[in-house]
Amino acid sequence: MKHIVEALEAKRAAARAGGGEKRMANQHAKGKLTARERIELLLDDGSFEEFDMFVEHRCADFGMQDQKIPGDGVVTGWGTVNGRVVYVFSKDFTVFGGSLSMAHAEKITKVQAMAIQNGAPCIGIFDAGGARIQEGVQSLAGYADIFMNNILGSGVIPQISVIMGPCAGGDVYSPAMTDFIFMVRDTSYMYVTGPDVVKTVTNETVTHEELGGARVHAAKSGVVDGAYENDFETLSEMRRLIDFLPSSNREKPPARPSFDDADREDPSLDTLIPDNPNKPYDMKELIEKVADEGDLFEIGKDFGKNIITAFGRLEGSTVGFVANQPMTLAGVLDIDASRKAARFVRFCDAFNIPIVTFVDVPGFLPGLKQEYGGLIKHGAKLLFAYGEATVPKVTVITRKAYGGAYDVMSSKHLRGDVNYAWPTAEIAVMGAKGAVEIIFRGDIGDPEKIAARTKEYQDRFANPFVAASLGYLDDVIMPRETRKRLIRSLRALKGKKLENPWKKHDNIPL
Ligand code: HXC
Repeated sequence: MKHIVEALEAKRAAARAGGGEKRMANQHAKGKLTARERIELLLDDGSFEEFDMFVEHRCADFGMQDQKIPGDGVVTGWGTVNGRVVYVFSKDFTVFGGSLSMAHAEKITKVQAMAIQNGAPCIGIFDAGGARIQEGVQSLAGYADIFMNNILGSGVIPQISVIMGPCAGGDVYSPAMTDFIFMVRDTSYMYVTGPDVVKTVTNETVTHEELGGARVHAAKSGVVDGAYENDFETLSEMRRLIDFLPSSNREKPPARPSFDDADREDPSLDTLIPDNPNKPYDMKELIEKVADEGDLFEIGKDFGKNIITAFGRLEGSTVGFVANQPMTLAGVLDIDASRKAARFVRFCDAFNIPIVTFVDVPGFLPGLKQEYGGLIKHGAKLLFAYGEATVPKVTVITRKAYGGAYDVMSSKHLRGDVNYAWPTAEIAVMGAKGAVEIIFRGDIGDPEKIAARTKEYQDRFANPFVAASLGYLDDVIMPRETRKRLIRSLRALKGKKLENPWKKHDNIPL
């Protein structure tokens, strides 16, 4: 028995040693943690149960039969985050650059399948060189198996990808199909093809960072949902995110005891809206003052900043906040904002998370760039997402709700359950100046007449009462009582049951 135990320990030690001390030291020298260190930080102390530590690749080409490292470049298993089960795989860059063989892929698909079956989130940590070059088509097949599980698991369990090193080729498409992607600044990059191939094909000279660094993807392409300073910060933020999410679509969002008074009023909100309707104010201040303990997890903080999407809690239960941000582009809806918010709304709907929407939107952004970029289709994504969502939807119009954007932002007409406005709300087809210049075009040469017409239009529409008189708003509330009213509404909506007509799936404008 003793020698068997010793053999077992030797095998475990070989797996834990990964690609060896030198490669581990290289990893640390680059400011990165190892695959196992990352798992230790992500999960509760001592909770990790590792699977498939002894799996080895089956490749016999290019001398690979003599190079076998148990575990084969990925550490997989499950553990807990604040007591709740999550499945995890973490690529080990010290073993063949974390590259993917068929055996490596099988380890990943095993934990994906278990996560889907058992209703728990699946978290992938990426730090790898793509397909195992020595292995050829089997590696491509392995990727496809992973993609299939990403697709089948979508909307069933939360899937989170954390990019903590290189991520190229086959490795990018699995994260792309997960719910959220996060990156580490300076040590991670993500692209379909690297700088060398780019140079050959398009003759552009770019660095790894310019092509696929965290700043590019968090702020420009919108591929990733957030970027952090280092491995430690990233993994502790992932723990915070997981706390907000239900484990699967079979569950309600997690609820925890709230020590923030549900009846708490905030008098400072009564003066949040400036007297000048063209002056911005920070919508985030409103969300922070309304949410339990001001605790939020923002998704896509640096991308499409004219809309805020964030998880928070009301009375201890997770809600998704969506809010136009007047501080950026006056809170207008453009392509980026529409895409970002549509995806967030769909995530919330898939995972039974109620949606709270704050509206201050002057409309859709006009212009060639937007139209050429397909604003019509992208704007329709948000419209579609809100309309199809069956979770509780509570909306508060704080100031402007103009034009099509009024309809889009969780209006009554898109099955908003409870729709409030602050007394400062203005609900109209467009702003008074623009409206008058169109309907009284003949008076444009007469500034006095135009001023009178503008005032008339403003008096008629720059308030919430026309919409309230039609029942499109359920009430006009004082800003200070927003938190209380939201909580009461969500309590009343706890038993909401609404189903869309049967279909195989919808055809959201993509
Ligand atoms: C096998 C690989 C590998 C790979 C890296 N290694 N990538 N082994 N297959 N894809 C090995 C290296 O040989 C090296 O082994 C170790 O990992 C570390 O690699 P380095 O190059 O020394 O590291 P670094 O300088 O940091 O560069 C990292 C890198 C680079 C940028 C990721 O290794 C690289 O460009 N790799 C190839 C990327 C690639 O083209 N992959 C295929 C993509 S195609 P030793 O023994 O020296 O430590 C693809 C198609 C799938 O993925 C499509 C599915 C839809």
